[in-house]
Amino acid sequence: MRDRAWHPPALTPLYKTSVARSPQRAPLSFATTISEETSPVFGNDVLGPLDNDLIHNFAKDGAGAIGPRIVVYGRVVDEANRPVPNTLIEVWQANAGGRYRHKKEGYLAPLDPNFGGCGRCITDENGWYEFRTVQPGPYPWPNGPNDWRPAHIHFSIFGHAFAQRLISQLYFEGDPMIWQCPIVGTIPTPEAIETLVAKLDMGATIPMDARAYRFDIVLRGKRQTLFENRMEGL
Ligand SMILES: [Fe+2]
Repeated sequence: MRDRAWHPPALTPLYKTSVARSPQRAPLSFATTISEETSPVFGNDVLGPLDNDLIHNFAKDGAGAIGPRIVVYGRVVDEANRPVPNTLIEVWQANAGGRYRHKKEGYLAPLDPNFGGCGRCITDENGWYEFRTVQPGPYPWPNGPNDWRPAHIHFSIFGHAFAQRLISQLYFEGDPMIWQCPIVGTIPTPEAIETLVAKLDMGATIPMDARAYRFDIVLRGKRQTLFENRMEGL
């Protein structure tokens, strides 16, 4: 059962779009079909060599994205801290100025011609993943009169079938904007919010190149990462 003291309620009017998105009637449950449970299964051969390098995967030859260079890495584990291998992780984010490459984006910060904003990787046999990117900027959004999103990276985690998909967001340790955000504010406790905050890891930095942030993803149990689409996890 979903723990309502830990997970945010569906209807949180200070996060304006939750009013239209939250269910007005009791949810119905449907049995999954065989195809939902068995396909697709992702293999390492689906990845290109630059898929986990957002600094270069959209850049012209010899160029790179503008912004603070970072490595984001961590481990995907289950409720017993067992590694979850072969899990496809997809990420998308704004550029260093806080702007998305999207036709409906309205923020005045400029696009970076060498930054696309999305990438992917697959966890190894011990559940580890890693990608390189530039730290995204915060951006304003039309919610209240002056609401800003903290710097964040969107995450999607696929299991072994299409129906096993979890979605969440990574924030950055020490960012004061985390505590101003109406979306983050729907989460009832600081402890739950901390599950979404990547920690600066100086031991994993690449000297003269990139800082490192560690972000572990827990699929179920008491230490579970908060997921937007399935609060109860996989
Ligand atoms: Fe975003």
